[in-house]
Amino acid sequence: MCGIVGYMGKKEAFNILIDALKRLEYRGYDSAGIALWHDRAIEILRRKGKVDDLRVAASGKQLKGTMGLAHTRWATHGIPSERNAHPHKAGEVVVVHNGIIENYMEIKEKLKKRGHRFTSDTDTEVIPHLINSYIEEGMDFVDAVRLTITELEGSYALGIMRQHERTLIAAKKESPLIVGVIDGEAVFASDAPAIIDLTNRFIFLEDNDIVVFKDGGFNVIDIKGNKLERHPQVVNWTGAMAQKGGYKHFMLKEIFEQPRAVADTLMGRVKEEKAQIEFDDLKLPDLKDIRKIWMIACGTSYHACLIGKYIFESTLRIPVETDIASEFRYREPIFDKRDMIILISQSGETADTIAAMKEGKNHGIYTLSICNVLGSTLARESDGVIFTHAGPEIGVASTKAFTTQISVLFMLMAHMGRLLGVMDKDTVRGLIYELKRIPHKMQSILDQASLIEEMARRFMTYKNFLYIGRGINYPSIMEGALKLKEISYIHAEAYAAGEMKHGPIALIDESFPVVALSPHDRTYQKTCSNIEEVLARRGKLLLFTDMPEHDMANRTDSVFIMPTTIYELQPLLSAIPLQLLAYYIANLLGTDVDQPRNLAKSVTVE
Ligand code: AGP
Repeated sequence: MCGIVGYMGKKEAFNILIDALKRLEYRGYDSAGIALWHDRAIEILRRKGKVDDLRVAASGKQLKGTMGLAHTRWATHGIPSERNAHPHKAGEVVVVHNGIIENYMEIKEKLKKRGHRFTSDTDTEVIPHLINSYIEEGMDFVDAVRLTITELEGSYALGIMRQHERTLIAAKKESPLIVGVIDGEAVFASDAPAIIDLTNRFIFLEDNDIVVFKDGGFNVIDIKGNKLERHPQVVNWTGAMAQKGGYKHFMLKEIFEQPRAVADTLMGRVKEEKAQIEFDDLKLPDLKDIRKIWMIACGTSYHACLIGKYIFESTLRIPVETDIASEFRYREPIFDKRDMIILISQSGETADTIAAMKEGKNHGIYTLSICNVLGSTLARESDGVIFTHAGPEIGVASTKAFTTQISVLFMLMAHMGRLLGVMDKDTVRGLIYELKRIPHKMQSILDQASLIEEMARRFMTYKNFLYIGRGINYPSIMEGALKLKEISYIHAEAYAAGEMKHGPIALIDESFPVVALSPHDRTYQKTCSNIEEVLARRGKLLLFTDMPEHDMANRTDSVFIMPTTIYELQPLLSAIPLQLLAYYIANLLGTDVDQPRNLAKSVTVE
């Protein structure tokens, strides 16, 4: 979604802001803009399209200034266009915004009656109008911002400048914003990768924080103007981690990083000798009376929840209820104080997942988040957090975040198994043994990536795909199908293999490829029968299995053999060939793999 960056210092701001905007591109956007302050004048440049279009538009212009704001916009109110792009200016006030102002129509009507003229269709534009009107009434800049904020309903991360003074203001509620701590300079952005080259010390702002940058320093205040203490945290990500490192796309790099990402996520936590899993600083509630676990998330992280259900129920025999975060709170879920809610999110900033956490907390339920981003809202506000150590995930299509989430769920299951007394040491040691071998097995799949690329070449022209699997393979194929549709724009539908004959089998003919995930597990025979049903209707089969002598292997030219592992860990291995298949098809079709159309990396609005 929208990306924000602000800078104030001694250096020329243009390149700093544009470089940071480039680093925010992965969040998804359709237009970009920049505002530079120089000698009590503000120059604004906005363009529909990419940050590079903005850079080209700026060449030849004398854009100067050591203070500025920049923005990438993902359209919510008003089509992608230059007039709707940020920054927005009213009088002497300039604003960039991420989030949605829910009561903007009301404010706009009120301001229109007072003679204000609007030049965009956005919700954002009411903000500079309001601030400017208070300044015109004689209010000081900071007070005008504070008063404006009290009138806004909805979510915002804001960057604000005023023409007649060298002060920069940032503010946040329910949309992410971080301050980079550098001596004598001020920098803030929507997330760490945007400014990681400038500093690795960040303050993760909390809701209702306002930051006033002035004279080479800054203060954090609340809405009433009281000073707040906020301490920086050091993030161990580097600029190089947020670069492509020789790969054509971030997504491909991130697929290939999975053995390392999973190994890093296990590091320091799995103790094979002691047959123990240890999570630093994790205080779980008393598990003895636990009634049910809820697992809630969106998109790929939701698929990790579905896999979590199989992992937990088949081993711990505790009921797990999964929910899509955007549905969860609207169906009035029936809670019990003995429940526990697990929320999964790469970014930790997904609006619906945060709302689900709040719903649980309001009912007095313990909330545990599984997150990849230190300091993110979900990580901060849930009762407990386990971090995945995937490193920055830049490609919009989630890959290494997914497999590290599953790794954490598996570790948590083993940890809880010991705490609950339902697993003895030998069982846990056996689980750890299998888990520790996963990175190596992942690597052996990646070493055969060219076979998948060849398969992709054969299937790239088909318009529809059906993905089938049973048991724990069902959520795995849901994730495989999501990968294909989001980056290649090919229609892909995932179905529980046994459910196929209740409807979708009607689609099958020679123009309809079927991706079947069929390892040699408890679902094997049944899935073979379902594959027979596909072949009987001349469907084209792409078979992914861990069994070279699979009964269906000689019925198709498109077979990929994976290493074997235990049932609960299969999704960690099967994810990779399905990610690669989607990637190679999209790459051959020439789509924008890292920033697919209409998608945003971090979905910070509901
Ligand atoms: C998947 O490839 C997508 N990027 C998307 O479904 C994503 O998983 C979803 O938006 C949830 O994001 P989160 O993990 O940051 O909460």
